Amino acid sequence: SFTDVHALQILDSRGYPTLRVTLTSKDGTIATASAPSGASTGAHEAVELRDGGQAYSGRGVSKAVDGINAEIRQLLLSQSWSAQRGVDEALCDLDGTAEKSRLGANTVVAVSMASARAFAAHSRHPLHAWIAHTLGKAERLPVPHFNVLNGGAHAANPLAFQEFMIAPTGAPTLAEGIRWGSEIYHALSAKLRRKGLSTGLGDEGGYAPEISRPEEALDLITAAIVDAGYTLGLEGVSIALDPAANYFYHDGTYVFNGRSFTPTQMTGYYQKLITDYPIRSLEDPLAEDDPHGWPELTAALGQRVQVVGDDLFVTNPDRVREGISTGAANAVLIKPNQIGTVTETLDTLSVADRGGFAAMVSHRSGETEDTFVADLAVGAGCGQLKSGAPARGERVAKYNRLLEIADASPTMPYGLVLTEGGRTRD
Ligand code: PGA
Ligand code: ZN
Repeated sequence: SFTDVHALQILDSRGYPTLRVTLTSKDGTIATASAPSGASTGAHEAVELRDGGQAYSGRGVSKAVDGINAEIRQLLLSQSWSAQRGVDEALCDLDGTAEKSRLGANTVVAVSMASARAFAAHSRHPLHAWIAHTLGKAERLPVPHFNVLNGGAHAANPLAFQEFMIAPTGAPTLAEGIRWGSEIYHALSAKLRRKGLSTGLGDEGGYAPEISRPEEALDLITAAIVDAGYTLGLEGVSIALDPAANYFYHDGTYVFNGRSFTPTQMTGYYQKLITDYPIRSLEDPLAEDDPHGWPELTAALGQRVQVVGDDLFVTNPDRVREGISTGAANAVLIKPNQIGTVTETLDTLSVADRGGFAAMVSHRSGETEDTFVADLAVGAGCGQLKSGAPARGERVAKYNRLLEIADASPTMPYGLVLTEGGRTRD
């Protein structure tokens, strides 16, 4: 049982306020967690509680801090809790809204993650092992998906696509994969400088050069992979894209590169990209409110690449269930703060698993030094984590946590899990 609950307003990686929660348990363990925050959010995500007003452009979280230190403290100290699900259900009941807008999804997720850490500590297991046990899955070190080139809502450049990731799918170990990522990141920096392009960074630590065409970004990245001495493709280094297509979708049309595309033309465009470049994963290739485009794209490309719903599914088990039945994608992005509790996040992972969907665990563009998602990716056994570039403290905190887990568990497997649709299940 908990003996104290305390919240604090801290800063995230964009310099905006967020929450840190500390739970103290009767056995003396102290569990802490911090809430991340997205910039290119889906319309169906759980809703953050922000103060409004002048301070911090309205983004303060003092109301959320007060809610934790009063209402939530009272709830958590009122009884002894035997399981995470009980805590999470009580938090949802206390909030009372479908989208967690009264207490705020930032509030609820920070408390829920800290509680999961407390339960893990109580069970005397590392967080990743507690998650694996809760899910009934085998632990696995995920392939890090390094976002080395940023555009869209995460950068000030004219590039429409949001994320260009490199994935060391062919690396023999996690540590080697991290080395490959770092070396390619630096090779890309050298390439940009040689071409007179900016090496300034976007929100997730990737470069944000003044380019506009996705093909230019892909040419730079594939050249950097080769410059660093690695091969292109699943046996070497693969590419994953998150166009985050909501951002350039208006009234049924996708607009970028000075051209307009229908949903069917977008599928044709991606078909060419995956033929020309070693792309293994497409996240949010279409907008969340393009319900017919998704099944059409997945039917056309889903045998060749992983099609991941992020803004489409918002880590919501009901939306993933719906996506499985309509064939809208073949994979789901997992971000705990999109849905609000650890239990619902694990439920979404289970729904995906039973429906034959792959899963990729993810940070947010606004992050802290909290490493929860690294343990989540290991415990889910899903084989994929995206946490931004192999640089910047809040990004490498997650990759460094993976290195720490790998170091402590030398026999833990590393790599993708290949699924029928998404070309991965071993
Ligand atoms: P966000 O972006 O954290 O800004 O929402 C990440 C993503 O779209 O995957
Ligand atoms: Zn995304």
